[in-house]
Amino acid sequence: MHSLTTGEQHEATEGFIPTERSSLPARAASADAFPVRAGEHEATGGFIPTERPITYAVISDVHGNKFALEAVLADAKVRGAEHYLFLGDYFQDLPFGNEVCELIRSVPGTVIRGNKEARIAGWRDEIGSPMQVALIRNGANRLTPENYAFLTTLPETAAVTAEDGAELHLEHAPPVVFDFKPRIETFRSGVFRKGGGHRGMTVEEYTACVLREIDSRPDFPAALDSLPYETLLFGHNHVQLRLEIGGRLLLNPGSAGMSLDGDNRAAYALIDRSGGRWNAEPRRVGYDVDSAIAAALAYADEIQAGAWGKVHAAQLKYGYSFTGAFMRHVNSYIGIDRAGFNPVSDEIFAAASDTFDINDYC
Ligand SMILES: [Fe+2]
Repeated sequence: MHSLTTGEQHEATEGFIPTERSSLPARAASADAFPVRAGEHEATGGFIPTERPITYAVISDVHGNKFALEAVLADAKVRGAEHYLFLGDYFQDLPFGNEVCELIRSVPGTVIRGNKEARIAGWRDEIGSPMQVALIRNGANRLTPENYAFLTTLPETAAVTAEDGAELHLEHAPPVVFDFKPRIETFRSGVFRKGGGHRGMTVEEYTACVLREIDSRPDFPAALDSLPYETLLFGHNHVQLRLEIGGRLLLNPGSAGMSLDGDNRAAYALIDRSGGRWNAEPRRVGYDVDSAIAAALAYADEIQAGAWGKVHAAQLKYGYSFTGAFMRHVNSYIGIDRAGFNPVSDEIFAAASDTFDINDYC
């Protein structure tokens, strides 16, 4: 079990959207405000305060990056976080799934599954060649039985209810965001880089982009209106975002372990409820990126899937998605002109990978 060092200092900046922390008098919170639900645990005890609003840390998409998660937990602790909301995708790209599970269980939290956990829970071995799926296969195989059971029994969604009845809804990849038809393109991480040309976008430009697209889609706010909750916490695309639409708060803390929004620092968010509203503060935290890159490269080599090491090292270094470009390259190698995952043999995958030069995309 890991423990956090209170004296640890990490670079951290304010969120990209100014958020006023409420100065209203603190209100009492009771144990009843946090009913125990599946996936919830109290690891260290004493997290329920009595005279002030709870500060939650919202953390998603760790992807096995223990270095980033350690930095996020240390920053959140210094910032007064008392309960941790984990939104899924805990293992895969770096070989520290067990360490990440232990870190998660070292803090009081509510934990839901992501698509990675859902995938190993309903494992379908036939998807992709061994080399294509090496990361998730090896990531799952490395888990201790205890951690495997922990990850594969997490709930798909969870809710945290404040004293006044306001609810935070937790869901890794909510259909209203990611499966909306026709798709809202700006919710794809690849758009973040393309939208800004050579330099990529800033988060502020990206947020404006999302709002413009949503403005052109009156059916989207209407879909949000049908949801039985006001506040949605989600992850999945590894892009930090805070939107308020029609009185609803949509908060994506970004990715702690594999940020893809142009800033390679670890991303997470703090949220608390006071004055009858949720106050959200996106956060960025510097961490030991070089160690994460070295681990990603060594891991991919070790499991003979070196191409993924190239892709993930670039993502960790630049903070942009290269996975789509890589998969498009693999597809084009066999004459398929489209992005996305297309199962190929190990032989073809290796040959295509050898001709992929990450520098063409940097
Ligand atoms: Fe993810």
